[in-house]
Amino acid sequence: MIENLLSAADLDAATAAAILDRAAGFAAGAGPDQPLRGVTVANLFYEDSTRTRFSFDTAARRVGAGVVNFAAKGSSVAKGESLKDTAWTLRAMGVGAVVIRHGAAGAAHRLAGWIDEPVVNAGDGAHEHPTQALLDAYTIRQRLGRIAGLRVAIVGDVRHSRVARSNAILLGALGAKVTVVGPPTLVPRDGAVLAPGVEVSFDLDAVLPEADVVMMLRVQHERMGQAFFPSVREYSRRWGLDVRRAALLAEHAIVMHPGPMNRGVEIAGEVADSARSTIVDQVANGVLVRMAVLSLLKGLANR
Ligand code: CP
Repeated sequence: MIENLLSAADLDAATAAAILDRAAGFAAGAGPDQPLRGVTVANLFYEDSTRTRFSFDTAARRVGAGVVNFAAKGSSVAKGESLKDTAWTLRAMGVGAVVIRHGAAGAAHRLAGWIDEPVVNAGDGAHEHPTQALLDAYTIRQRLGRIAGLRVAIVGDVRHSRVARSNAILLGALGAKVTVVGPPTLVPRDGAVLAPGVEVSFDLDAVLPEADVVMMLRVQHERMGQAFFPSVREYSRRWGLDVRRAALLAEHAIVMHPGPMNRGVEIAGEVADSARSTIVDQVANGVLVRMAVLSLLKGLANR
């Protein structure tokens, strides 16, 4: 059972495997039937989202829960209401669990300190996105049959990426060898600041032939208050996964992207739409993994 899911570091290998197995059970139609019937899940989205928001909504309904969808735009947040007061308001209405996306790193942790109900972090600033890492792990296992021993390259704007951090933590815990690759302005000098054992490279063409999994990251222009590379064109030329670079990959290697994509910047459209790409599978698997997470939250499941 999961108390809160705030960070990928909350998951030991056994718990992560239990979530992936339960998600696979749901995919096979073998999961528990509507384990959250009678429970209401609140989705608090203070930051924009397409995949995560609709995925949690769909997942909650599929496990039998009622859903309250809260977007900061159009709510009393616009009148100055705090996160704490918003959470207490929803709590007074009897929600059983809260899913939160917020622009501030640590917001999910703060919320978990204020309420007794389980909290799931759906992305907090540039910090963490643990359910994205779980759905990515599920997708890797689905395509390649295992995670342990695989070489995973996480490429691009690592500096602003909660996806990179959560994947480095989770995939490392599950036995993958993670390398982050990108311009010196956007990757840490020491990979250990992300997770133990993470390696750093500034040479994408050298890393690609060795990789089993290439995870391309979105260039997060909205989090960049300064220039981190000379131009989008230059970034694409040096760090983008185009058709020429994709040809350097081993035949079995897969290409991932959490979305939303900047087509033609970090990934060429031809590569995103190729047979190697898992991008659509990642979205589909997100629902299964989030069903599993919600159904394993402590104190919620009634069957
Ligand atoms: N991958 C992801 O978090 O996408 P959204 O921002 O659309 O939720």
